[in-house]
Amino acid sequence: MNGLLCYCRPGFEPELAGELTERAAHAGLHGYARTQRNEAYVLFVCEDPAALSARLPWRSLIFARQKLVLLAELRGIDPRDRITPVLAALSELPPEQRVRYGDVWVEHPDSDTAKPLAGLARSFGNALRPALRKAGLLTDKPQPRLPRLHLCFLDGDHVLLAQADPADSAPWPLGIPRLKLLSDAPSRSALKLEEALMTLLTPEERERLLRPGMRAADLGAAPGGWTWVLTREHLHVTSVDNGPLREHVLDTGLVEHLRADGFHWKPEKPLDWMVCDMVEQPRRVAERMGEWIAQGWCKHAIFNLKLPMKKRWDETRLCLDLFQERAGRPLLIRAKQLYHDREEITVFATPA
Ligand SMILES: C[S@@+](CC[C@H](N)C(=O)[O-])C[C@H]1O[C@@H](n2cnc3c(N)ncnc32)[C@H](O)[C@@H]1O
Repeated sequence: MNGLLCYCRPGFEPELAGELTERAAHAGLHGYARTQRNEAYVLFVCEDPAALSARLPWRSLIFARQKLVLLAELRGIDPRDRITPVLAALSELPPEQRVRYGDVWVEHPDSDTAKPLAGLARSFGNALRPALRKAGLLTDKPQPRLPRLHLCFLDGDHVLLAQADPADSAPWPLGIPRLKLLSDAPSRSALKLEEALMTLLTPEERERLLRPGMRAADLGAAPGGWTWVLTREHLHVTSVDNGPLREHVLDTGLVEHLRADGFHWKPEKPLDWMVCDMVEQPRRVAERMGEWIAQGWCKHAIFNLKLPMKKRWDETRLCLDLFQERAGRPLLIRAKQLYHDREEITVFATPA
């Protein structure tokens, strides 16, 4: 079976399946999604997964935490010897797919049924590594530029083998960045902006677009998590919210707190950044964010769109189109449902 294997937040399989199906059709590379509710992954079966993968960069996928090219599906493997069938499957790959891997990650979907497989994944990984090296399939030390082998346990006797391009995949097991909430973070929301900066921007973009001394607005800022993340990058922040900000955020000397309506307030001078975490109808937020770009009130933006309960993929597409249309200028837009996002997605926009 050929296809792409993508991980997602449990419960968002229909959104990921919808996104992959629509974008594959748009690329002229039709296929179908094999998925079940709450399994936290989608298998997109198609004839030419390498071509499709090239058309769907990981950073451009909204509901995929990880994107891999499927190599094989092994069912009914003997729990007493899982290594032999894995090595056999790899040796049976067509010559163009046979490579030496720079690393191997043994994983499981982030679902309630698959999470108990974490122990097995860990111990099997430890046993598999030397066997892969002996077979010449794995480098002695991790080589981050070479393709990475993924094993995804769906059950004790059922495993998917897949391959990642390190330059076009999440650099974290399960596609989940493990961020630590620092004790002085004003809210857990701080992790969302931190993850957005890591995930939606490339390292080069982070360096170029986020520089000390830049000016930003934070709409819906209280209690100050996002503002605090920006001050740690040494940005000056105007934080708009009727609610209070934590004292130590104000003590940075980089923050001005305005008690105002984030849907009406605008800056006197153009800013480098605007971030927005206001809980509101996503269309209303998308329109206002577009207005900010259209008016030139900010260059770059990161904002959240809270998704409704139903038709979430349709609403996502509609809101992103609305945002682009209102902005009225060429933009690079990337959106993702981050690990720290629940019923929402986070959007990054910058001049194209
Ligand atoms: C999810 S919280 C923001 C958390 C914040 N990003 C953080 O990291 O601490 C949403 C905030 O949006 C604010 N908010 C909602 N509607 C607003 C509006 N029209 N104008 C300004 N703030 C608004 C609320 O007061 C609330 O503090």
